[in-house]
Amino acid sequence: MEKIVIDYTNMMSESIGVHGINDDDFISVKGDIERAVKRITDKQLMFRRLPYENIDKIVEYGKYIRSNFKNFLVLGIGGSALGPKAIFKSTCGRYHNEYKIDKVPLPKFYFEDNVDPDRIYDLINTIDLENTCINIISKSGKTIETLSQMMIFIDALQKLKPDSWTDNLVFTTDKDNSVLLDIGKKYGIKMFYIPQEIGGRYSIFTPVGILTAAVCGCDIHSMLKGARDMNELCNNEDYTKNPAFMYAVLQYISMKRGKNISIMMPYTDSLKFVTDWFSQLWAESLGKKYDIDGNVVNAGQTPVRALGSVDQHSQLQLYMEGPFDKVVTLIKVDKHRYKMPIPTIFEDSSELKFLCNSSLNKLINSELEAIIYALTQNGRPNIVINLPSLDEYYLGQMFIMLEIGTAFAGYMLNINPFDQPGVEHGKISTYALMGKEGFEERRKSLEITNKIKFLV
Ligand code: PA5
Repeated sequence: MEKIVIDYTNMMSESIGVHGINDDDFISVKGDIERAVKRITDKQLMFRRLPYENIDKIVEYGKYIRSNFKNFLVLGIGGSALGPKAIFKSTCGRYHNEYKIDKVPLPKFYFEDNVDPDRIYDLINTIDLENTCINIISKSGKTIETLSQMMIFIDALQKLKPDSWTDNLVFTTDKDNSVLLDIGKKYGIKMFYIPQEIGGRYSIFTPVGILTAAVCGCDIHSMLKGARDMNELCNNEDYTKNPAFMYAVLQYISMKRGKNISIMMPYTDSLKFVTDWFSQLWAESLGKKYDIDGNVVNAGQTPVRALGSVDQHSQLQLYMEGPFDKVVTLIKVDKHRYKMPIPTIFEDSSELKFLCNSSLNKLINSELEAIIYALTQNGRPNIVINLPSLDEYYLGQMFIMLEIGTAFAGYMLNINPFDQPGVEHGKISTYALMGKEGFEERRKSLEITNKIKFLV
């Protein structure tokens, strides 16, 4: 199988000098690697089994949505929005919604992952709701942002179609203990379930991501095949032959050496939202106060999203000459979807002549090579993830490689990469502030700490 390649040459001291990694660094983390290998190969790790599940029913329903609705709107937040958005954005063109609808027989896509009143007002007052399928995603079925969006959109649907408002809805949630589940059952709404053991940020291969993939008509089977092939490769216990482990080991050693910022910079707009998805995965999985033994460790590495070549003209100066506290992961795509030639005009200008008859394809990858060279010359650790193309097969490989790598890094750090107590803390405070019953104690504490005066 052809596979994505992780080139870490420029993480090593041979390439970048004192800020690089050497053999002693690998030896010094041998025990941590062994511990992580034991945990990650646990057969109970459900997220690694997802690409093997049968998805026929989801694919069928995706086809139904495609042929019956003009718009597909996802309401969800965090792991319940970033996966589907990453799949849509990496497989459909950037201007998908602007394509003439009769040319492309696909719905327009909307992902609403905020409770910004202006944003929701704009959408609800512009979208053709009657022809919109709304996929409401919440694993817990308790997330205040998603539930409040749901109430707004269902109220609007009920007013518009009093007898058939449920026809426009799909719920994706946990099979037990979810408000969405209760409402879905009561009103006979179409539902898909997220396996109990899967947390939001590891849910891209559950119905959370797969339904969007099915609606946008991408080759899901190829994506899952890619994920399976990579998963098999990542069964190799030798980290030097395992791309996910190696990625994690390099970042782990970097963290130990004070490189607490991890930048991901794809050289294609199609993967911009994959970096959003990965940022959540990395931040929420690794950012932990306590280790597994209860010691305070305040672990984690701050993910930063960047885009090539855009950020060469904004962030790069800092990456090149600022503090030595960063690792840069560049994502290279050998073959973009389209060829975009630069035409032969103004040949008589010495400033333009060399561009004549070239292409944006050559330009963007030359920019990438130039940056690898510049970072390396400046002694800056950089890794290249190389995708042969933007084919779904390689995307599937990349998604699971990053998931396994994240979990592995968590196990090396000896923390739990699957919980998110910090997120829960924020959720509880918001419940308290919004006056939910049972959260009175937190409300009192907020009153004192934030000096809030509750007027209502
Ligand atoms: O990764 C996570 O667990 C979180 O980011 C959740 O996805 C997010 O808080 C939304 O939760 P839920 O899907 O329960 O609405």
